[in-house]
Amino acid sequence: MELPQKPWLVCLRRRPSLAILLGAVALLGLSWLQTTSSRVAVVSAIPPPALDDAGAGPVRSCSSFYQPGRPRRVVFSIERFGGVGDGKTSNTEAFRRAIDHLEKFGDKGGSQLNVPKGRWVTGSFNLTSNFTLFLEKGAVILGSQDPKEWPVIEALPSYGRGRERFGGRHISLIHGDGLTDVVITGQNGSIDGQGRMWWDMWWSRTLERTRGHLLELVNSNNILISNLTFLNSPFWTIHPVYCSDVVIKNLTVLAPLHSPNTDGIDPDSSTNVCIEDCYIESGDDLVAVKSGWDQYGISMARPSSNIIIRRVSGTTPTCSGVGIGSEMSGGISNVVVEDLHVWDSAAAVRVKTDVGRGGYVSNITITNVKMERVKIPIRFSRGSNDHPDEGWDRKALPSITGVYISNVFGLNIEKAPVLEGIGGAKFEGVCLRNVSLVGLRPGAKWRCEFVAGEAYNVSPIPCFQLRSNGSTSWCKHT
Ligand SMILES: *[C@@H]1O[C@H](CO)[C@@H](O)[C@H](O)[C@H]1NC(C)=O
Ligand SMILES: *[C@@H]1O[C@H](CO)[C@@H](O)[C@H](O)[C@H]1NC(C)=O
Ligand SMILES: *[C@@H]1O[C@H](CO)[C@@H](O)[C@H](O)[C@H]1NC(C)=O
Ligand SMILES: *[C@@H]1O[C@H](CO)[C@@H](O)[C@H](O)[C@H]1NC(C)=O
Ligand SMILES: *[C@@H]1O[C@H](CO)[C@@H](O)[C@H](O)[C@H]1NC(C)=O
Ligand SMILES: *[C@@H]1O[C@H](CO)[C@@H](O)[C@H](O)[C@H]1NC(C)=O
Ligand SMILES: *[C@@H]1O[C@H](CO)[C@@H](O)[C@H](O)[C@H]1NC(C)=O
Ligand SMILES: *[C@@H]1O[C@H](CO)[C@@H](O)[C@H](O)[C@H]1NC(C)=O
Repeated sequence: MELPQKPWLVCLRRRPSLAILLGAVALLGLSWLQTTSSRVAVVSAIPPPALDDAGAGPVRSCSSFYQPGRPRRVVFSIERFGGVGDGKTSNTEAFRRAIDHLEKFGDKGGSQLNVPKGRWVTGSFNLTSNFTLFLEKGAVILGSQDPKEWPVIEALPSYGRGRERFGGRHISLIHGDGLTDVVITGQNGSIDGQGRMWWDMWWSRTLERTRGHLLELVNSNNILISNLTFLNSPFWTIHPVYCSDVVIKNLTVLAPLHSPNTDGIDPDSSTNVCIEDCYIESGDDLVAVKSGWDQYGISMARPSSNIIIRRVSGTTPTCSGVGIGSEMSGGISNVVVEDLHVWDSAAAVRVKTDVGRGGYVSNITITNVKMERVKIPIRFSRGSNDHPDEGWDRKALPSITGVYISNVFGLNIEKAPVLEGIGGAKFEGVCLRNVSLVGLRPGAKWRCEFVAGEAYNVSPIPCFQLRSNGSTSWCKHT
C-alpha cells in the first residue's frame, strides 16, 4: 500500500558460523543414511492427516481440494541430518541436506521430515514433492536473523519487480517451486519468522530488497497446510502463487498489530484454494486475494478463481478481514467468503482496485459476516496510486461485476459503507441483502460513487445507487 521508499545502503553484519563443525557431523549422519535408507522403509509413527468429510453434513469443508496420497514411505527426524534444536545453532544446512536426501523418495513413495520439540533456527530452505513437513508438539522453527540467509531470488513475472523494491526479492523462509503433493502440518508446532529485523529495516528505510514471506509456494499443486501456528512473518505470511488445489486449514497466524504488511494468507493467481478455520491477528489484511500488479499482471493474465474463505476470524487495526486486491490485474472470480468474524479492525471486507490495474473482479459472494468495532464495515476503494514503474497503462480500468454481500451484522461500527468505484469503469451488480449495522456514529451516511446495484433489507438506508426496486429486486433472490 505504501509507495516505494528510497533504498539506502545497508551494512549487514556477519555472524560467526558453525557450518564447518555441523557439516562434519552431518556428513557422518548422511553417509549412514545413504547406506541404510534404500533398504529400510521407516514407517511413520504419526499418521498422515485425514481431512474431515467432503461437505455432506451441515459443517462444510474444503477437503476435496487436497487429495492425500498413500502414507509417506520414509520418515526422518531433522536430527538425523545434524539438526540441533537449541535455539542458537543454525540448522540451514541440516534442512537443506534433509531435503536433498528426501527428494530422492519423490517417486518412491514420498517422505516425511519430522521436527521434534525444540527451537530450530534456520535460514531459508526449499521443500520437495510428495513430501510432508511435520512439526511435533513444542517444535518451533525460527527464521534466521542474518538477511543473507534469505537470499534474493527473481521477481514474480506477474509483479515485474519486488513488491516493495525494484529488482529481485528475498526468498521466503520456507519455499517451494514446481511441487506436487506437499503437506505442512503438525501438532501445533510453530514457524516464527522473527520478522522484527525486517520491519525495522522497513521503518528505518534501510530495506534494499522486498522482504520475504514466511511460506511461499510457487507453481505448485495439491497442497495442505494445517494444524500449525505461523508467527512474525517479515512480509505476507502465507503466499501460494500460481498454485492450484490448496487447502489451508486450522491455522493460527499472529503478527504484532502494527507490523507492516504482515498479511495472513494471500492466495495469488491461484485456483481452487480453500482457507478455513483460521484465527489471524496481523498488521495487514487477514486474507487477501490477489492476481498480479498492473501491466505485469495484465500481460501474465493468471487469475485467482474458485477461492473459498470460511470460518476465518481475527483482528487487524489498519486493514481488512478479507481484501480483494489491490493487485488484481490477472482477474479474480468465483470467490466465496462465509462465516467471517472480524473485530477492532479498519474494515471487514474491502475490494481494492485502481486505474492502471485493469483485470476484473466478478462473482464474489460474501455471507454470514459478524463484526464489532470496525471503522468501515464494507468498502470499495481506489486511488492508492501504487504502481510498479512508469510503464503502467492509464487506460487499464478494472471491471467489477457481481459482488453479493448478505447476512451481515455489525455492532459498534463507526461509519456506513463506502463504495467508491472509478469513473468510466464498470462497478455493477453489487447486491447487499440483510445487512444490519448498528451503533454508528451520529450522522454516519453511505458514500457511493460510480457504483450500481441493489440493496434489500439493509440498514442504515443505503445510498441511492443501491436503492432497491421493491419486489422486482433481483438482489432479493440471489
Ligand atoms: C489436525 O489435527 C487433528 C488432531 O490431531 C487431526 O485429527 C486432523 O486430521 C488434523 N487435520 C489436518 C487437516 O491436518
Ligand atoms: C509423486 O508421487 C506420484 C505417485 O504417487 C508420482 O506419480 C509422481 O511422479 C511423484 N512426483 C515426483 C515429483 O516425484
Ligand atoms: C530454492 O529454490 C529457489 C527457486 O525456486 C532457488 O533459487 C534456490 O537456489 C533454492 N535454494 C536451495 C537451497 O536449494
Ligand atoms: C486444530 O489444530 C490443533 C493443533 O493446532 C489440534 O489440536 C486440533 O485438533 C485441530 N482441530 C481440528 C478440528 O482438526
Ligand atoms: C497453538 O499455539 C498457539 C501459539 O502458541 C496458541 O495461540 C493456540 O491457541 C494453539 N492452538 C491450539 C489449538 O492449541
Ligand atoms: C459463482 O461462484 C460460485 C462459487 O464459486 C460458483 O459455484 C458459480 O458457478 C459461479 N457462477 C458463475 C456464473 O460463474
Ligand atoms: C440475516 O442475517 C442474520 C445474521 O446477520 C441471520 O442470523 C439471519 O438468519 C438472516 N436472515 C435471513 C432472512 O436470512
Ligand atoms: C426496476 O427493476 C426493473 C427490472 O429489473 C427495471 O426494468 C426498472 O428499470 C427498475 N426501475 C428503477 C426505477 O430502477
